[in-house]
Parts: sequence; structure tokens; C-alpha cells
Amino acid sequence: MGKVAVGATVVCSAAACAVAVLLLRRRMRRWASAKAVLKELEEQCAAPIPKLRQIADAMTVEMHAGLASEGGSKLKMLISYVDNLPTGDEKGLFYALDLGGTNFRVLRVQLGGKERRVVKQEYEEVSIPQNLMVGSSGELFDFIAAELAKFVASEGEDFHLPEGRQRELGFTFSFPVKQTSIASGTLIKWTKGFSVDGTVGEDVVAELTKAMERQGLDMKVTALVNDTIGTLAGGRYDDSDVIAAVILGTGTNAAYVERAHAIPKWHGLLPKSGEMVINMEWGNFKSSHLPMTEYDQALDLESLNPGEQIYEKLISGMYLGEILRRVLLRMAEEASLFGDTVPPKLRVPFKLRTPVMSAMHHDASPDLKIVGTKLKEVFGIPTSLKTRKMVVEICDIITKRGARLAAAGIYGILKKLGRDTIANDCVAKRTVIAMDGGLYEHYNIFSDCVRSTLREMLGEEASASVVIKLSNDGSGIGAALLAASHSQYHEVEES
Ligand code: BGC
Repeated sequence: MGKVAVGATVVCSAAACAVAVLLLRRRMRRWASAKAVLKELEEQCAAPIPKLRQIADAMTVEMHAGLASEGGSKLKMLISYVDNLPTGDEKGLFYALDLGGTNFRVLRVQLGGKERRVVKQEYEEVSIPQNLMVGSSGELFDFIAAELAKFVASEGEDFHLPEGRQRELGFTFSFPVKQTSIASGTLIKWTKGFSVDGTVGEDVVAELTKAMERQGLDMKVTALVNDTIGTLAGGRYDDSDVIAAVILGTGTNAAYVERAHAIPKWHGLLPKSGEMVINMEWGNFKSSHLPMTEYDQALDLESLNPGEQIYEKLISGMYLGEILRRVLLRMAEEASLFGDTVPPKLRVPFKLRTPVMSAMHHDASPDLKIVGTKLKEVFGIPTSLKTRKMVVEICDIITKRGARLAAAGIYGILKKLGRDTIANDCVAKRTVIAMDGGLYEHYNIFSDCVRSTLREMLGEEASASVVIKLSNDGSGIGAALLAASHSQYHEVEES
């Protein structure tokens, strides 16, 4: 090789080296900036026990305020008119309709009293077309009533309705409702991505009844309940130590049994049982102690209900995946986490659903294959192992914050009921919380974290008597049980 050629080769390889060094430096810079975003997220989402105690205390303060007066708190503390929970004596054929998420359920159950309990039950699940969740009230209720009518038409011989009787229904409507009786109530507002025209301020039972009439369906709603109330009723039917119910699903909420005389805003007669079930609507809880980030703030601002359901937006299944998407988007923009261009699908709100996040978070394969596949499916991007590890770390931070906050809420209820400690010389009362919701049921890292955090807050001794019991669709059966105990034929039967 001549001198010139050698010189040129040296110059070229030096240039290649320089480019490689530049690229490496750029990659390192980008990675450092992704790490910085992660660190900041971790700090802002931190929910150590002392903070959780402050949150639980704020929750109990708000519970008192909400019970004291209408509008006294962000927590509505709604009176459910349920002053007697199921006893097991309930008998007959009852229907339930459960509306509250992206699916609704219809259910029928033949109840056989103390001896035979649930003789037979059948249900169907129907997904609600997206356009009906933000359409008009008539369209939504007509769709539901039509599906219910189809289901009633398929009733088999194993179900028995005595001659001349009207079918009765427990309506689980999982939104904030101001009840005016056990079987009537007006919608306060929509949550969880619903925004249906012409319903707020209206009696939802009247709306459903009109729609059922339009379908030629002769059925009477004898109980209108929130899903938390249904879960509490279903839970109590199975276990007499159930004192509260929590939903951790698309949305989140809790209900519990309160002493009726501890509800200053209850102006009715004191029930014989001395008790009243309260629908807390805890999703709307807000406190300066809540660990919030810029992602939460932006999510809230751009939501259908800005400023509302803040606690729900930090915890529930509707939002966890969306928070993750927002963090990834910032990392893509500022740290080129997914390469030189931001994948366009990463900009689409709610593109990343919580079940996908859960699947990635639970990926135990050494090369995080599931994470890779999911990111490819949802955003159309290939990823390195390093990036996939980063994604799992973000899932962990977001999910554990949500789970720890949920545990703080449960601790707040236990505190309000005086079940958070064991008084001197007392044997602790067994305390059961009925739990329902897909987030808790399917996202194991989330539910493990709820339980371990609650244990940590209660301490070994007190936590030994507190049980969280998963009640799979307890709310459907619960609503049917409440329809039974408020049946129009109840007195006929008793006499
Ligand atoms: C609703 C509650 C409901 C909860 C769980 C919230 O968005 O406001 O009424 O109980 O979701 O479904």
C-alpha cells in the first residue's frame, strides 16, 4: 500500500472512531437523562408509612365532615338506605343488573333461604359500545334494557317465579348517586370515562324503568345500589364479619357499616338495626399529602372530569396504564428512549391499558420477552433489554404508589371504626373487608402490595384479625339479595 493510501485509511478510521465516540456519548447522555426522569418519578411517588398515616388521618377527618353535612367534604359519604344487610333468609327469583365499567352484567339468581342458599345463578356480560359511554341517556338505557330483555327471555325452567308476580331487579349503578330511597336516586356526576347527556340530576331508576317499558319488559327495580354496597351485601351473606367493601377496578370506592346515630346529616328515623351502610365515594378524596406528579396533573387536566376523582386517578385501573404512557412519552421526547423519533402511537391517550401494564410488570423471563412483545404490539417499537428493564421499573413505581394509597384508605376506615388497634385486654374482633374489582383480582403485584402495606400500617397484632376477602362479583349477588329483602312481596310473605 502506498503512503497516501495508508494515510487515508488512518484518517478514515480516526473519523469512524470519532463518530462512534460521539454516538456512544450521545447514547450515554440520553440514558442519563432517562435515569434522571425515573429518579424524579420515584421521589415524587414515594409513599412511606408516615405519609400514609397522614393520608389515612386526612381520610378519617373527611369521613367525619362528610357525615356531618351535605357538601361538608370532598367525600360525599352517601346514605345508601341499606340498614339491614342480608341474613340468608332471602328466597325467590331475583335479577341484578350491574352497570359501572366498560362491561355491564345481567344476572339471575334463585335464592333458597338459609338451608339452600343460592340454588342456581346465571349471568351474562355485555361490553358497552364506546359511543354509548359518551352519548345520550336514552341510547344508553335503551341498549341496557334491550340486553336485559334478551336475558330475561332466556330464563329456563330451573328458575321459578310464583304466578302473578312481577320480576324484581337489584340495579347496581356504580357512580355517585344521591339516594332518595332504597329504590330511587339521582346521579350526581359521571366518572370513569362516562359522560352521558341528560342524566346528571335525573333519577336513574326512572330512566331505566322507562327504557324497560319501551322494551315491553315488565320488571320492577326494588333496590338501587352502588357496587360497593352490593359487594358489602354479598360479602355479608357469606361472612357475618364483613364490615366494609372496597372496589379496586376500573374505578375505586369503599362502603362500610356506620352507626346510624353517628351520621348527623341523617334526618330520617333511626333504623331498628342502629346501622346504616355508607357509600363513601372515596375516589373523590383529595389531600395535600397525596404524592402527585406532573403526569397526574396533566392527566387530570385533560380528563373528562378535571379536579375530580383525584384519589381514583392515582389508584384505579382506568388510569395506571395511562400514567405509564405519559412517563414513557416524556422519556421518548427528552431521552429518546425509543430511538430518534417518538413513536406516534405513544402520543395517543389511553393507548396503554392497565392489563397490558400488568402483563409487562409480571414478566419473569430473563430477557423480558413479554415486555418486548407488548411494547411492539401497542406502540409498534422494538426495544433493547435495558429499555425493557426501565419500563418495568416505571410500572413498579406507579403501581406500588397506587396500592399503598389504597391500603392507607382501608386503614383510614378501620381507624374510623376503631378496628385499627387492639384495646387493652380485649380479644380483637375479626374484621373482614370484602374486595372486588379486576385490578385487585388480576394485578397480583398490586394486590400483594395492598395487603403488605396494610399489615405494615396495622402492625402484626392488629393485622392478625383483619382479613381482605376477594368476593368475585359479590356485587351482582349482593344487589339481587337487596332486591329480595326490599321486595314488594316481602310483607305478603312475612304475614
Ligand atoms: C364511582 C363509584 C364506584 C367506583 C367503583 C367510581 O368511579 O364513582 O361510585 O363505586 O368507581 O366502580
